[in-house]
Amino acid sequence: ESLRNLLQKMPKAELHIHIEGSLEPELIFALAKRNGVALRYASVDELRRAYAFTDLQSFLDIYYAGASVLLHEQDFYDMTLAYLQRAHADNVRHAEIFFDPQTHTERGVAFSTVIDGIHRALDDAKRHWGMSGALIMCFLRHLPEEDALATLEQAIPHRAKFIGVGLDSSERGHPPEKFARVFARCKELGLHLVAHAGEEGPPDYIRSALDVLHVERIDHGVRCLEDAALTRRLAEQRVPLTVCPLSNIKLRVFDRLADHNLLKLLEAGLLVTVNSDDPAYFGGYVNDNFLRMFEALPLGREQARLLARNSFVASFLDEAAKRKLL
Ligand code: HPA
Ligand code: ZN
Repeated sequence: ESLRNLLQKMPKAELHIHIEGSLEPELIFALAKRNGVALRYASVDELRRAYAFTDLQSFLDIYYAGASVLLHEQDFYDMTLAYLQRAHADNVRHAEIFFDPQTHTERGVAFSTVIDGIHRALDDAKRHWGMSGALIMCFLRHLPEEDALATLEQAIPHRAKFIGVGLDSSERGHPPEKFARVFARCKELGLHLVAHAGEEGPPDYIRSALDVLHVERIDHGVRCLEDAALTRRLAEQRVPLTVCPLSNIKLRVFDRLADHNLLKLLEAGLLVTVNSDDPAYFGGYVNDNFLRMFEALPLGREQARLLARNSFVASFLDEAAKRKLL
């Protein structure tokens, strides 16, 4: 069996996927038409051509514009089911999915519309394909902590529909400390905690995500290698990193896949996983991330099996469910 085959066929979990980042240009146009929303782009091709990013912020501007076509519960359902179907084709057995309620509630869409549409698709994926899914609600870090606290209040009646919270959007200038109070509240509520850190931001943001927010996983985290003591700590404490190779290239964290530090992260003994981040914007779903990373770096079957295993180990599945999938 070829390495390619192994990567495609191996059961895996995906732990870093923003559902709004799975919205393909074709679906953006279909929803714009269905909802009578005007777009700044004349065609699918023109929109795709705008996906030439120079950094995180240049991506986020287009990503929030794309999400503006989502108005009704069915829109959130259609987006989520399309992702789950595509992930199923990549043999994703379990997905922990980020959603950004503030992107929608700021436009006047009700919190329940967002979470009910997404959650109904998770139920259907379980029934259709036996695939499990769980939601992680992200706070937008460019907005004030008060907004995050208000979002958490809106989420409480829906507590059973999500398992954790995260932190995303513009990293630089918005350190984890800004969200200390809201994360403390979430911890009291028994929610799982994760945060984006060390993507564009410095290693210190990874340290404060651990020490101040008490997160269980770091999303991205690739800049940890700039700090040897931090790297040792992440390895010793088995803190998972949800790495997204194609995202890192598109957002210029690394120039080329051959320059990516994924192999160095593995060699440092870190619990690394491979994920797609925003597959509709970054040129590939999770198997594309595996295939292109394995073409670019000297990685083999042993690392393939390790990364697949890590994806389940790093997940928030309970131990019995993990044992079944490992
Ligand atoms: N980083 C920060 N915020 C995001 C990302 C990301 O990679 N994708 C969607 N929101
Ligand atoms: Zn992300």
